[in-house]
Amino acid sequence: MNATRPGHEAFASTLVSWQLAHGRHHLPWQQQRDPYRVWLSEVMLQQTQVATVIDYFNRFMDRFPTVAALAEAPQQAVMALWAGLGYYSRARLLHRCAQMVVAEYGGVFPRTMRDLQRLPGIGPSTAAAIASFCFAEPISIFDGNVKRVLSRLLAFDGDLAVTAQSRALHLAGQQLLDQGLAQLTRPLSEAMPAYTQGLMDLGATVCQLRAPACARCPVASMCAAYSQERTTAFPVKGKKLKRRVERWTWVLLVSPDAVWLETRPQQGVWAGMQAPPLFENEADVAQWITRHADGAVQETAASFKHVLTHKDLHLTPVTVRVSGTVHPSAPVGAWVPRHALPQAALPAPFKKWFQHQGLIGQ
Ligand code: ADE
Repeated sequence: MNATRPGHEAFASTLVSWQLAHGRHHLPWQQQRDPYRVWLSEVMLQQTQVATVIDYFNRFMDRFPTVAALAEAPQQAVMALWAGLGYYSRARLLHRCAQMVVAEYGGVFPRTMRDLQRLPGIGPSTAAAIASFCFAEPISIFDGNVKRVLSRLLAFDGDLAVTAQSRALHLAGQQLLDQGLAQLTRPLSEAMPAYTQGLMDLGATVCQLRAPACARCPVASMCAAYSQERTTAFPVKGKKLKRRVERWTWVLLVSPDAVWLETRPQQGVWAGMQAPPLFENEADVAQWITRHADGAVQETAASFKHVLTHKDLHLTPVTVRVSGTVHPSAPVGAWVPRHALPQAALPAPFKKWFQHQGLIGQ
């Protein structure tokens, strides 16, 4: 199938010129096209907005200036620096990936999309971003923004929740690039990073979901959805997953100078992070308290909601105050002194709650 049309040969060169003149050029990971920086930023940007990522990116670069430094760090240190960014499996895979780059490639990232996507946490789109930004491989990225841009450009009405349709659009994206290569006037080393960044910038700053700014769009004259006046009909996405609601209780076991935290299992919500003991049913809570802090003063507060990708968690805090230190037998737990709480790998809802309670200074 060839979904692209005559006229689309100019898409790539138009996008490249537009990006160079009107795109973003001052993001910290754009300053050097070093695969370590590009990889780190792309993993952070997989599910997080640019504005949030910038500070995290700079902190990571200060603390772990090289892939070897990241590979050598303890997992807890990586998780702690990631705390608040969400989707924590990214941080665990990031750490594993750094270790693999060191062990298998002597600390030098491989240069092709094919090899890059064999590494943990690097999917096809992230691999294409690194290969095109750093090594000028003429390969098309395919993330959420790009799906929107392409589906509009081509008035692609397949349901992107269906794998075969999504693949067809991805292929059309690659054809669009392949067809445009001959018209590029700049060397690939300059054109490919601008093309990739141009797709991202167009999606983020012009071809937006609800109110696309077609008057400012460099490729409006080639856009099928625009000519049909149906821009917001694309992309077509099928039924959303039904969200689940779960009610969890968590125990804030506090002594005068410390809080009891446990390392979450390597699978499931907040895997590998540090959190207070969490329980999916009430009977387990009562049992845990009786076992580890029998007779202590306890207080249940109102629950609050925390939204994850596929579920809404209603979290009910039960504060249990002990005067000295008791020693819960859980092998994965520890008393964390209050002064060390800002450095703990705490998921955002707990960090916020601790701040709210004055356990962590603002
Ligand atoms: N989103 C994903 N990658 C990005 C990048 N390199 N710049 C801006 N936004 C992005």
